[in-house]
Amino acid sequence: MTTSRADRAASWSPDSVVLGCDYNPEQWSESVWHQDVALMREAGVSLVAINIFGWAEIEPRQGEYNFDRLDTIMDLLHSAGIRVNLGTGTSSPPAWLTTLHPEILPTAADGTRRWPGGRQAWCPSSPEFRSAALGLVAKVAERYSSHPALALWHVSNELGCHNAHCYCDTSAAAFREWLRARYTTVDALNQAWGTAFWSQRYSEWNQILPPRATLSSTNPAQRIDFSRFSSDELLDYYRGEAALLRSVSSIPVTTNFMVTAHIRSQNYWQWASEMDVIANDHYLDHRLSHPVSELSFAADLTRGLAQGAPWVLMEQASSAVSWQPHNLAKQPGEMLRNTLTHVARGADTVCFFQWRASRHGAEKFHSALLPHAGTDTSVWRETLDLGAKLHALESLAGTRVEASVALIFSWESWWAAEGDSQPSTDVKYLEQVHAAYDALRANGVTVDVVAPGAALNDYQLVVVPSLYLVDDDSIDVITEFVEAGGVAVVTFFSGIVDETDGIRCDPTGETPPGAFPALLGVWTEQFFPLMPETQLVLSDGGHATTWAEHVRPTTADVVAEFASGPVPGGPAITRNRFGSGAAWYVATALDEPSFADLMGRALDEAGVEQLELRAGVEVVTRSNDSERFRFVINHSAHDISFPVDGEELLTDTTIAGSVTVPAGGVRVIRLSVEEGATR
Ligand code: GLA
Repeated sequence: MTTSRADRAASWSPDSVVLGCDYNPEQWSESVWHQDVALMREAGVSLVAINIFGWAEIEPRQGEYNFDRLDTIMDLLHSAGIRVNLGTGTSSPPAWLTTLHPEILPTAADGTRRWPGGRQAWCPSSPEFRSAALGLVAKVAERYSSHPALALWHVSNELGCHNAHCYCDTSAAAFREWLRARYTTVDALNQAWGTAFWSQRYSEWNQILPPRATLSSTNPAQRIDFSRFSSDELLDYYRGEAALLRSVSSIPVTTNFMVTAHIRSQNYWQWASEMDVIANDHYLDHRLSHPVSELSFAADLTRGLAQGAPWVLMEQASSAVSWQPHNLAKQPGEMLRNTLTHVARGADTVCFFQWRASRHGAEKFHSALLPHAGTDTSVWRETLDLGAKLHALESLAGTRVEASVALIFSWESWWAAEGDSQPSTDVKYLEQVHAAYDALRANGVTVDVVAPGAALNDYQLVVVPSLYLVDDDSIDVITEFVEAGGVAVVTFFSGIVDETDGIRCDPTGETPPGAFPALLGVWTEQFFPLMPETQLVLSDGGHATTWAEHVRPTTADVVAEFASGPVPGGPAITRNRFGSGAAWYVATALDEPSFADLMGRALDEAGVEQLELRAGVEVVTRSNDSERFRFVINHSAHDISFPVDGEELLTDTTIAGSVTVPAGGVRVIRLSVEEGATR
């Protein structure tokens, strides 16, 4: 089929806010399916992902296919008016395949092979795996591409969740091919990897290996290239499945991303353009200090991957997960609040893992829309309530989120910044990103999370948190943004290395080190990482931890100095006029109040409207050419009132002057025309 990506994406665009879920009917008998489908209708579920882990059922032995049960469930869902998000089923190889071809099993960095018995036990570079998987995809595509229930193709599942990096000989050969394409000659590779260090020079391609377990630290440039290769390799695998599906069908194709705090192995900026629809899986992570803020960040980043277009939340949990140390059940109202936070931030489809809680297997304690205890439960009642509330929001489908602040986020920088032998293991890239995001959130502004190098013209403020690795083009875009009148906030450990993980320094000493000396009007002479217990005080009364540095101002004004710590009297926060704009530099890890205060000043300077919000309240606006919808999300334990005029969609009431949002509640107001014009 020769449809374009734009056509396939357009064919997806839902005209209402869709409720969906993963469904694993292979775990249940047919009599349960009928009950399930009836309850799905009752809840308003209209999109169901099936066949995600179906391989062993539909191909029980090599080349022997049995689609009877999948046919039945497809037809059953269709007869109930439910559309299908059809998995290609390739996520986990069946036992017959790993028995016949143990070479497809992935190998860890220490050279030991991982056994089957879990899931995703396959090497991304394995030709045997690819051939078996594509064989299955061809059969699934042939059988279902014209099925009237089919709405979306779901390639594999969370590619790279467990098998992102394989160190086997097949992967090593594929890595060398990838390196040849990148560097052409071994000499160029030696140069880029800095192999003069520790006698690591290569004279032939066949000497080059993945960064397998060694006695000491490995080469950081080799590691980052292996991370790039590994992300590309799974993307290439995705392309293989997607090409096959697109050759027989014009139905949109996607896979579920893992934009989340604990998985970082895919560079989704490179994957995004290959998806017809952007889809993400997100679970609240109670190992973090601010799980709810991380949810908002992940949603904003997913929207960035979708370039602002509405996106699909492919999985979330109705209550507890089963893979954290402490799997917290959600409080009443929390599932609705989480869901509407995703919707506020651009999701038009919200799905859950999973429909019915499993009786067996590693996820039997994972929550579902329909819990083990059945329908006389608060989770089920909340499922019904959610279905009704999403229905009330249908008019905002297709609208886009308003934001005038951008935050630059980079998976490559994440990989590189947390490699071996860095100045401090306490400098965690994502923590610094989250700290900057939280400081913006505390000032009541909505943030677009964008890729390095993305156009910044539509923004008033750009935040660059600890962007350790940055290429020349991205430096230029940030610099030009400020020159043209924008305001930037750059935080410590930014612009340290280029894309080869080589320090940005000039051996002649003519220009100072770092990526932004002119833009920031400062340069850094030496880093002074801190012990975990060290607290710094700044001259403006602010507090900080983790990091200090000896900052040398050239053209910048010093806004605050270190009043304690290893660089007393040295600049901690600076501000530099540059072109028609200004660039702030923060040379330490500010605590939450100090960072929020600093961000407030930068937002003022950039002219960004800030909302006075109580702690724990989020306000986000979605709009199109004719309408604006304001979400007021109250995560706090107190009722709040928020000034607004319009029509509240969830309670179907008219709001004049201000809306009361109960503790833990959400209100969505279609702004009246005057309100839309002024706010
Ligand atoms: C992931 C997977 C699902 C399930 C959930 C559990 O998102 O895609 O199959 O394992 O996690 O949270």
